[in-house]
Amino acid sequence: MGGGPSMSLLCYYCLVFVAGVVAAAGAGTSVPPPLPVLPIPTAAQLAWQRREVIMFFHFGMNTFTDVERGTGAENPALFAPAALNATQWMDAAAAAGASLAILVAKHHDGFCLWPSAYTAHSVRASPWRAGNGDVVGEFTAAARARGVDAGLYLSPWDLHDRHYGQEVAYNEYYMAQLHELLTRYGRVWEIWFDGNKGTNATKMTYHFQEWFDTVRQLQGSINIFSDAGPDIRWVGDEKGFAGTTCWSAVNQSSITIGSAGIEKYLNEGDPRGTEWVPPECDVSIRPGWFWHRNETAKPLSQLLNIYYNSVGRNCVLLLNAPPNATGLIDGADMARLREFGAAVKRIFGTDLAEGSRARASSERGGGFEAGKVLDGREETYWAPTAEDGRRNGYWIELRRPAGARAFNVVRIQEHVALGQRVERHEVYVDGVAVARGTTVGHKRLHRLACPVAGRTVKIWFAARRGPPLVSAVGLHLDPYATDVM
Ligand SMILES: *[C@@H]1O[C@H](CO)[C@@H](O)[C@H](O)[C@H]1NC(C)=O
Ligand SMILES: *[C@@H]1O[C@H](CO)[C@@H](O)[C@H](O)[C@H]1NC(C)=O
Ligand SMILES: *[C@@H]1O[C@H](CO)[C@@H](O)[C@H](O)[C@H]1NC(C)=O
Ligand SMILES: *[C@@H]1O[C@H](CO)[C@@H](O)[C@H](O)[C@H]1NC(C)=O
Ligand SMILES: *[C@@H]1O[C@H](CO)[C@@H](O)[C@H](O)[C@H]1NC(C)=O
Repeated sequence: MGGGPSMSLLCYYCLVFVAGVVAAAGAGTSVPPPLPVLPIPTAAQLAWQRREVIMFFHFGMNTFTDVERGTGAENPALFAPAALNATQWMDAAAAAGASLAILVAKHHDGFCLWPSAYTAHSVRASPWRAGNGDVVGEFTAAARARGVDAGLYLSPWDLHDRHYGQEVAYNEYYMAQLHELLTRYGRVWEIWFDGNKGTNATKMTYHFQEWFDTVRQLQGSINIFSDAGPDIRWVGDEKGFAGTTCWSAVNQSSITIGSAGIEKYLNEGDPRGTEWVPPECDVSIRPGWFWHRNETAKPLSQLLNIYYNSVGRNCVLLLNAPPNATGLIDGADMARLREFGAAVKRIFGTDLAEGSRARASSERGGGFEAGKVLDGREETYWAPTAEDGRRNGYWIELRRPAGARAFNVVRIQEHVALGQRVERHEVYVDGVAVARGTTVGHKRLHRLACPVAGRTVKIWFAARRGPPLVSAVGLHLDPYATDVM
């Protein structure tokens, strides 16, 4: 007790002394970060981008009728999974390394996987759990328990609801269902909208803007997906491939949800785009989105190719794994997902750039050194000086320790929090060009024709919308690549 006051006094003097030293240092103050190049992502978009792999679960009436698209006239009695276990679905998500899982709450046939108060065409009319079941409830609870974030898809096209085609009545119905989904199940991280409908579907005008604004009101930091965003855009195909050039920005005014002819624009983005709406690559592990007895999962090599062409091209991979008619992810699909997750860990778990020394065309100052590309942190980055580009062009070089192992994958990551900048880049190993490309973005992966064991790896940023800000350069060995092992 007695020592208390003098101790605090001592600490007080210490603090004053330390503060004085810091203030006197003057020159030791931090160099501010460079200005952003607009547009830039929101915090929610940035967090989504860093997920890299997320999961889709297509499950519903189609699972039982063995079709990809129903008619809306299905008997709810057909919906009867004998042993639905959403916790097992989360095993699948975790196996694939996915931190977010999206469930189809209602597909085009209109059958609702939750007991909606606005229709009789739902799980309530089915024999499953004696009509007391709620797939959305079980899905979100299992996700929460597993630390996986939840997302939902509610099909706008509805072949069952009798209001479909009546503009006000159907939009009210749809909005009421959005309210149910976004207020009953806790936090929802992503919601999916699309304009998909049959060629001779009933004419119907969707009130997308009212839906989007309502979604924001109910879930403030959710990401809204559609062809045109506002937060995440469709990549323009269902193969899981982004363009070799892939900008996160687009002009939303150039995109009409559900219209044909915009696929290339969605696939590549727009270097002059005014809105940050990065693409998501949706693809199924099987030929179909829904489970069919006659189909099997894609081989590992194909899944890895998808990974390189999505995550490795500045995209998030949305991988679908359909639960079967028992209500479980098929054992063979589960095994494939485990193989895939393990392969990604095996390739990228070891960085063969470790131990290298980094130098660059210039350094902005303390905190922005070339070495920041090697520290394994997304928040830190190398930044050049503003004049650099006018003199020598921008480059960064890693000098690897003697005896460093061969690699066949080069990973480059921009600090996209301050905008996507790189328009063209080239990679040299010991002075020999081994890869070249256009955009980089959050992550660009180059697969080399064969493993190389060079001492120096240099990346030249030949064209850019502003000084490049690079958060990481990594070197990896992919033992699954052909020609290797
Ligand atoms: C559901 O799946 C989980 C994870 O695979 C498992 O631990 C659990 O026992 C299953 N529950 C039932 C009721 O089978
Ligand atoms: C929709 O159009 C297709 C051909 O385009 C036709 O085969 C089908 O019968 C039509 N369906 C309805 C409900 O009219
Ligand atoms: C997108 O908008 C910007 C700014 O208005 C414009 O310069 C650019 O040409 C637009 N892109 C396309 C493809 O129209
Ligand atoms: C499997 O069966 C479904 C439903 O009958 C069909 O639509 C699909 O084309 C079949 N898939 C393959 C790969 O044959
Ligand atoms: C669904 O997958 C589980 C797990 O592999 C399996 O036990 C069950 O038989 C499958 N159901 C059907 C209908 O194939």
